[in-house]
Amino acid sequence: MADMDGVREAKKFYVDVPQRMDGFFLKGSGSLDWGMKNRLSRIFNPETGRTVMLAIDHGYFQGPTTGLERIDINILPLVPYADSLMLTRGILRSIVPPSAPKSTVLRVSGGTSILKELSNEDIAVDIEESIRLNSCAMAVQVFIGGEFERQSIINMTRMVDLGSRYGIPTLAVTAVGKDMVRDAQYFRLATRICAELGAHFVKTYFVEEGFETVTASCPVPIVMAGGKKLPELEALTMAYNAVQQGAAGVDMGRNIFQSDSPTSMIQAVRAVVHANETPAKALDLYNTLKNEAKASARR
Ligand code: R5P
Repeated sequence: MADMDGVREAKKFYVDVPQRMDGFFLKGSGSLDWGMKNRLSRIFNPETGRTVMLAIDHGYFQGPTTGLERIDINILPLVPYADSLMLTRGILRSIVPPSAPKSTVLRVSGGTSILKELSNEDIAVDIEESIRLNSCAMAVQVFIGGEFERQSIINMTRMVDLGSRYGIPTLAVTAVGKDMVRDAQYFRLATRICAELGAHFVKTYFVEEGFETVTASCPVPIVMAGGKKLPELEALTMAYNAVQQGAAGVDMGRNIFQSDSPTSMIQAVRAVVHANETPAKALDLYNTLKNEAKASARR
């Protein structure tokens, strides 16, 4: 108990100053509880309202993807430049140092492989694991129009309900089947369903035509998925267009870790996302950093 000696009468009440009432910076998130907001603020930078998430969870259904063969060697050097890591509990526990001061988004759906129907997923991680691992969000794949559409939607709503008990947000990841058209109409449908059913943020692909209608009609933040590896300028242009058209950042994997210089690429993506850098200038940054890295490797 505090020492009672020397206690002075409290008088700094600032009776003329109304208590500060902060709004919350993230779209559609103002009514969430404190823990949810705190976790979201560790994924999204409160100053820019955006995030650069590094997605390295591909192994949960496709094994050692190109660029992710040795996460300790290839990915850990990128961690300082990411706002958040999206990954599985297996990689988190076995390779990522607990002292790494980064938020993590835990992949919690799974149960399928590239050898079978991918939409046949279940919840593959208990909520207690997300709590134990101090996750800032849980990621669930949602296959709108897929064979196991209903099951994947219910996986997501279960995690929303469980996460709401403990203040852990759910990220809905929209997965597009091979036969489906990737257009704004599809992504408006998929993202809106996820948000209506409680997802706290949604990951979806960029489309050239009408992406701004996808972000406008989704009441919670959208993060752009990277997709297959593109030349660096195209990937930076896609990220630029996505954030300029309303995305709250990116959740990119292959376009970063399969780049010739992943550490340079993630810094160029950061410039686009957090500093509104143009794709051309971000590419200059990428080339400069890449050349510097090469020069220092020669020394
Ligand atoms: C996909 O199923 C996983 O969620 C990946 O983390 C992500 O969508 C892939 O990232 P990228 O397409 O940028 O490699």
